[in-house]
Amino acid sequence: MSEKSHSQSSQNKITPEFKSPLLDRAWTYMPEGIRQTVTSEPIIPAIAAKAKVIAAQNPDFIRSDQGQVVGILPDKEVYYGPSSGLEELRELVGRFWTYAYRLKNKPGIPPQGLDKKNVAIVSGATEGLAIVMHLFAFKQKVGLMPLYWSNYKGIILNAGGNPVVVKFFDENYRVDFKNVEQVIRKNKITSLLINFPNNPSGDVLTEDELQQLADLARQFNLIIIADEVYNFIRYKGEPQSMLSSAPERTVVISSASKEYLIPGARVGYVIAAEETFTNSWMPKMIRSFSSSPNVLGQRILVEILKDEVKDFEEGRPPRIITGIKKELKTRCGLIISILQEKGFELAGRDEDFPSGAISVLARLPRDIELDDKAFVDKALELKKFSAVPASVFGAPGCIRFGYAGMTQEAIRKFSNNLQDVLDSIRKKADP
Ligand SMILES: Cc1ncc(COP(=O)(O)O)c(C=O)c1O
Repeated sequence: MSEKSHSQSSQNKITPEFKSPLLDRAWTYMPEGIRQTVTSEPIIPAIAAKAKVIAAQNPDFIRSDQGQVVGILPDKEVYYGPSSGLEELRELVGRFWTYAYRLKNKPGIPPQGLDKKNVAIVSGATEGLAIVMHLFAFKQKVGLMPLYWSNYKGIILNAGGNPVVVKFFDENYRVDFKNVEQVIRKNKITSLLINFPNNPSGDVLTEDELQQLADLARQFNLIIIADEVYNFIRYKGEPQSMLSSAPERTVVISSASKEYLIPGARVGYVIAAEETFTNSWMPKMIRSFSSSPNVLGQRILVEILKDEVKDFEEGRPPRIITGIKKELKTRCGLIISILQEKGFELAGRDEDFPSGAISVLARLPRDIELDDKAFVDKALELKKFSAVPASVFGAPGCIRFGYAGMTQEAIRKFSNNLQDVLDSIRKKADP
């Protein structure tokens, strides 16, 4: 633990002082109960770890520390995994991120880039966000930029925090740093939850904007929780991570749910440059949230990432995700041309094509007098299609169309179904 020194608090308790802003802020904001969790050494995993090593070297050694039945359904038995995830997977995620986001020899990141100690595997990004919010959000104000994933508010509230929406972009979709600074100051915001590439718009920040955001975070001693679940699904430019710009105060949350389109595997990752956070505090928190992430799901991802990391090592783009990206880009292009033909406009920073992610955010045609919720209700009532009213993300008047779940054939069919819905609405509006 990177503790600098110890000092006595007013209650005569020992308060560790941390050099790392990530540990320092988390320790300052977390409730006393969580302080105990992250500093305790759970006994059962320690015995299990010792027993595993002894058993491997001593055939006569009998293990009775394990809490599950053995040998009753031998083909189907799946044991708990380590709380922080399978070591092999943690190492692969670290290497993938190091290659994908060019993290070797970056200030504030270990010289060789990230390894297993910088990665904790969680049960999807959702669990990762929930745990991280328990560390940073209790009795604090967390800044949320619109557009925000609809689950964020609930996750922050559950952790005892207060979400505050911070308008991020001006009318021309430039980051309004002045406004962001004012809102942070006025509300005493202590962390920011950002999401790029964005769900629902696919927006990203430029490298320069990420740097300015990092500077702002340093000025206010903020923690940045960067939801980068779509990070490698980019249609324009090089993928970036907030970790490059503010490694000392960024926690990245990512997931195989989105990039590898396997949400049911429930495998996400929490990544930080400060290894005490990911290698010690996170596993202790995971133990009391879900024991361990899904072992079967992790094995699926190990097989995928072995190939992807090998490609990187041999100087090729990772083939699986590159193939996924290519198909998604085709689907995205198809759905955009249909939406534009029907009078929808892309909402968000990109007027022509989103920068990334797996959905399109489109503004309803001007002559449609229904709001976004009523429009989706109509499409469902007519049994033509489903979509998400974007007011749930903070973008009223817009609709999110998720094309990752639509085949190219379905997208072509969607054209007629969308026309039917628009015709029905327009007919009703005719006097
Ligand atoms: C921005 C964002 N973050 C997190 C998640 C949750 O991901 P997971 O399935 O890994 O929990 C989603 C799912 O839609 C999302 O869009």
